[in-house]
Amino acid sequence: MASIAMAARALILAVAVAGNLLERPSSPFHDVSATWQETLDAALARTGPLSAGDVERYFVDGFLKVEGVLDGAMLAELRGDVDAKQTEFARSLLAEGRLNGTIDAWAAIPWDEKLLRMQDAQLGVPADADGKLAIHPAWNLRGKMPSHDETEVPWHQDNSYWEPRLWSQQIFTAWVPLVDATPANGCMEYIRGSHKKGQTVTHTCCLGNTWYTETSLADVAAQLGLPDAADRATLVPARAGDVIFFGPTMVHRSIKNSGSTIRWSADLRWHQVGGPGAPPPPERAGGDELDFFYGLKNSLVIAEPGATVAPGSPAMDAWASIDRSEVQEAGLNTKAAAIDLDPIVTGPWMDIWNITHRNRHVDRYVASLPAAVRAAVDGARTDL
Ligand SMILES: *[C@@H]1O[C@H](CO)[C@@H](O)[C@H](O)[C@H]1NC(C)=O
Ligand SMILES: *[C@@H]1O[C@H](CO)[C@@H](O)[C@H](O)[C@H]1NC(C)=O
Repeated sequence: MASIAMAARALILAVAVAGNLLERPSSPFHDVSATWQETLDAALARTGPLSAGDVERYFVDGFLKVEGVLDGAMLAELRGDVDAKQTEFARSLLAEGRLNGTIDAWAAIPWDEKLLRMQDAQLGVPADADGKLAIHPAWNLRGKMPSHDETEVPWHQDNSYWEPRLWSQQIFTAWVPLVDATPANGCMEYIRGSHKKGQTVTHTCCLGNTWYTETSLADVAAQLGLPDAADRATLVPARAGDVIFFGPTMVHRSIKNSGSTIRWSADLRWHQVGGPGAPPPPERAGGDELDFFYGLKNSLVIAEPGATVAPGSPAMDAWASIDRSEVQEAGLNTKAAAIDLDPIVTGPWMDIWNITHRNRHVDRYVASLPAAVRAAVDGARTDL
């Protein structure tokens, strides 16, 4: 697995010219155009807990805030236990005959699976014929610290973190604030309608003191045909218990936390099984249709048609116990084995985009590159 990743990296690495410290060839994948966002009629034909207006907003704006999905008190426990409100929601859906199973079965489902189930088939995620739904290994619990560069996430599309082969897929995100998220403590901001074209715009790496990919509003405007991109920027404050849903071509960021407390949130992703770009090329170990993350950690099927998610299943426990950050660093050979709480983050997305800025995260990544590439990068201008 690691050696294949290294071979792929050797192919796409090219060396610096003015403007970039480490230049990638222009990506042929910029031709990739997702079309999942064009299926509004099909989504409206489905039934589920969302109103038609909600479903339409998701397809038109590219994001949807659903209020009161999770309960604030429960979130305070998530921290201990985030289960109560969703169980309540499940109870009312059961009462309305919109949900299979029993309230006891729903109560027993862990909070993160419950959320995935509530999203239901309604927004069109499990578009494959067999209706299977898988949870993606890139999920995060984020503590956004006050005035902290490294937790201020710049404008980007989530696709910039995935392999280009998967850029037509609707790898779908639920963003879950565990405390009220406001403009003051760093809520989310979206470029309304930026998902519509289905394109992944040019990103660079890595902003400021971070490991994040970044795009610019100028590139968003030019490449997505949105001259008014800046005017479309929409802050979306959300209360603990709300959930914001959006897809991988949605341009968004998480603004600075100017408050004094930590803004905790979680983000979870899921997707259909198979579909455009899956499975990966056969030379990649296994060629598994659940390989949605560079061959490093597979997704896990959590729902099949008519099947209730098995609560506390051994498969989920085993999957969750694989540390995604560790496997991504092992894949790049950037793991600092001696450091327990290593603050440096590197990831395979650093192979995709032009490196335009160096910092300690990028330095660790560059140190993992083949010697010839590394020497050229180390000799390149650093005053860009
Ligand atoms: C990297 O930068 C060069 C020069 O600016 C550009 O031609 C190329 O398209 C960029 N590659 C990517 C993947 O953005
Ligand atoms: C509910 O159960 C029925 C009968 O087993 C099945 O046909 C249907 O697909 C199930 N619906 C969901 C949402 O699981």
